[in-house]
Amino acid sequence: MIKVDISNVWGEIALPDLLAIEREVSDAHIMLQEGTGAGSEFRDWLKLPVREPTKEISRILKAAETIRRDSEVCVVVGIGGSYLGPRAAIELLQGPNRNIGRGKGDPQIFFAGNSLSTRHWNELVRLLEGKDFSVIVISKSGTTTEPAIAFRGLRWMLERRYGTDEANKRIYAVTDPCKGALHQMASGEGWETFVIPAGVGGRFSVLTAVGLLPMAVAGIDILQVLNGAADAKEMYDLRSFENPVWQYAAVRNVLLRSGKAIELFESFEPGFKMFGGWWQQLFGESEGKKGKGLFPVSVEFTADLHSLGQMIQQGQRNLFETVVRFDPPEKQYTIGGDWKNLDGLNYLEGRTLDFVDEMACQGTIAAHVDGGVPVILMDCGVLDDRKVGELFFFLQLSCGVSAYVLGVNPFNQPGVEAYKRNMFTLLGKQGYEN
Ligand code: PA5
Repeated sequence: MIKVDISNVWGEIALPDLLAIEREVSDAHIMLQEGTGAGSEFRDWLKLPVREPTKEISRILKAAETIRRDSEVCVVVGIGGSYLGPRAAIELLQGPNRNIGRGKGDPQIFFAGNSLSTRHWNELVRLLEGKDFSVIVISKSGTTTEPAIAFRGLRWMLERRYGTDEANKRIYAVTDPCKGALHQMASGEGWETFVIPAGVGGRFSVLTAVGLLPMAVAGIDILQVLNGAADAKEMYDLRSFENPVWQYAAVRNVLLRSGKAIELFESFEPGFKMFGGWWQQLFGESEGKKGKGLFPVSVEFTADLHSLGQMIQQGQRNLFETVVRFDPPEKQYTIGGDWKNLDGLNYLEGRTLDFVDEMACQGTIAAHVDGGVPVILMDCGVLDDRKVGELFFFLQLSCGVSAYVLGVNPFNQPGVEAYKRNMFTLLGKQGYEN
């Protein structure tokens, strides 16, 4: 079970504050589970964790095997909820540099369609030169501009390289079960297609083919991921303050009410950065509406202590931190002695790098708490495929409960459309003239 340690928030809030919100958290949890809250038609992600492979999951495993066998590179096209989850899992479990040295049998995975940058596109084209590749295109609506443009280019590249028939075998679509441009194209061209159920919104879709197909291509055991999520579904259904979901949802809301408007979500693992990006979208898009919500910021320590550390320690006192921790890996690195000791590090001789990291973490938390920044600790234990599934589900549940406590619909995102409307008008898209 993920442990939420709130011992470092007591300087900012008191026990009665927490007890006062208990009823709201309990009501929010019931609303989420029973479907009586706003947006309840988008709660089908609650049904996604399974213990045994369904037909869809067996097809995902088969498709991933084919991609692994016939591709040196797999390009995953998507943006937002159709991209962040799989990248988060892959980088957390395999590291941000996992592509180096990989090829056919265990393909490199590149992500495309998550920007409109020509430099990024040119780099992708260069990386694909002379390589056997397949494309997983993910879009629930099937009309999002960034992935649509990237996919058009990649489809043409595949057709030029392999001819139409073989190209069609190398395209895997993940989209709405019955509507949208991508759904129509996939049916028309006969691409292998996986479904994002209508009742699952983008940022809650990581346990569908959106996340599972790229993860399986990366060699992650997706049945373990799903079992971890199934564990979470059982463990975090507890209706009391013993439940870490309640603790996290309650404390962040109490802190918001006491003027802490920004939550920094941190880990001391560089591979966690994209997971922080996934969390940022999950909470940002779910809670940021009606003039409410905590501003979610993903931060990587110790790197960002050397850029944001000053601001955290002594800037505006409107933030708090959530630090995500994992058990150390089995393989340890021990710092050696150097007879010259020019760098002055001999006092650490015989210590592991992990010991230094632990001291950095403890020192940072103590300094920040002293400086008026409350810290929530999230201790996740062993980091493996199963834990990633548990963490995804734990955070989705926490987000749903937290958003209902805040008084917003966690499952819509009306504000995301504003920039799109302006862009379409500027681009001259039909129907957006005004
Ligand atoms: O969470 C969301 O709904 C969004 O982030 C979408 O996932 C994102 O805009 C991509 O949309 P689509 O999958 O329709 O291309």
